[in-house]
Amino acid sequence: MAKLNENYLDLKDSYLFSEIAHRVNAYSAANPDKKIIRLGIGDVTRPLSPEVIEGLHKGVDDMASSDTFKGYGPEQGYEFLRNAIVDYYNRNCVNIDAKEVFISDGAKSDTGNITDLFDKDNVILIPDPVYPVYVDTNTMNGRKITYINANAENNFLPMPDPNVHADIIYICSPNNPTGAAYNKEQLKVWVDYALANDAIILYDSAYECFITDPELPKSIFAIEGAKKCAIEFCSLSKTAGFTGTRCGYTIVPMDLKVMTSRGVEMSLNAMWNRRQSTKFNGVSYIVQSGAAAVFTEEGMAQCKANVAYYQENAKIIAECFAKKGIRYYGGVNSPYIWFECPNGMESWEFFDYLLNEVQVVGTPGAGFGENGKYFFRLTGFGSRENTLEAVARIEKLL
Ligand code: MLT
Repeated sequence: MAKLNENYLDLKDSYLFSEIAHRVNAYSAANPDKKIIRLGIGDVTRPLSPEVIEGLHKGVDDMASSDTFKGYGPEQGYEFLRNAIVDYYNRNCVNIDAKEVFISDGAKSDTGNITDLFDKDNVILIPDPVYPVYVDTNTMNGRKITYINANAENNFLPMPDPNVHADIIYICSPNNPTGAAYNKEQLKVWVDYALANDAIILYDSAYECFITDPELPKSIFAIEGAKKCAIEFCSLSKTAGFTGTRCGYTIVPMDLKVMTSRGVEMSLNAMWNRRQSTKFNGVSYIVQSGAAAVFTEEGMAQCKANVAYYQENAKIIAECFAKKGIRYYGGVNSPYIWFECPNGMESWEFFDYLLNEVQVVGTPGAGFGENGKYFFRLTGFGSRENTLEAVARIEKLL
């Protein structure tokens, strides 16, 4: 009889956003006349920018001619895109090398796949609440997780406890779901802690494009020492509206080396390269051609205009809570607004209340962890019209 990976028995029945979609679809089937506004999953609504579309078209045209046709590409990504990302980092005053950049189909896949490089017996430190992918992928591998509390007392920015050891640390900043963002001093404390513990930080910077405060770092590699202890994951999903197009990148520094029990030092860059060349055949040339357009001057300006649109939505939602005297987090430097459910309601109860009463869909905090039980998340990724209508409905209800 085939033996299964029974760690799957330790997972919740369904992934958070599948559960939400299931509940919303059931409500919609029972109430076909109601207009539902979805501010739950952080999915973009603006079309791809004209430069990106042109880049995609160029990719398609290249595939139509034998001179420019591409078969299998490099598993690490085409040089033109890796170099464009290096330039982007340089413009933000962070030095990286093209060999450290690996193109992927998004940060979700890579934050899950990276677990391939690590032994089962690591102490995994994950903040609670957190993007559920970090927890679920480690649970699938049978790893024990140590949680660190993110809560109102620490402004949802937990700091390391020097008396608690960790081997692998997950940090997402600006944070999904809370919208909180670490400053340089705080991240430096995490880097120093990782170096002192011979630990590795898995840093998810998928929301870096929402940072407007120049004091906040857009990359962990802006912090001294980080190249010896961190891997960074980023995505074009939110930066350039690629949630459906799929493209991201992972930076694995050359300096990141770990001594093994066999006394051989291993390079994580070499390991990730080995893993990717074995299990991944790269992102399609057409998509990478579109992705490269994001980093041109014109492409970046157009993508920033879309991000600014979502930032304004987030501000509109945040202002609604400020007006109502409801304490919230995020809304600036982040597309997410995280707030305490009114009247002591639990988050799934509030989810049903909001859906039934005003047909607005959000994300229950409990889906991100124990500390989210009484919190709720809304996103700025809707259309302006829907955001304004959702806010008007919520204002009336609360
Ligand atoms: C979210 O809503 O938390 C994100 O859109 C999920 C993701 O990026 O995979």
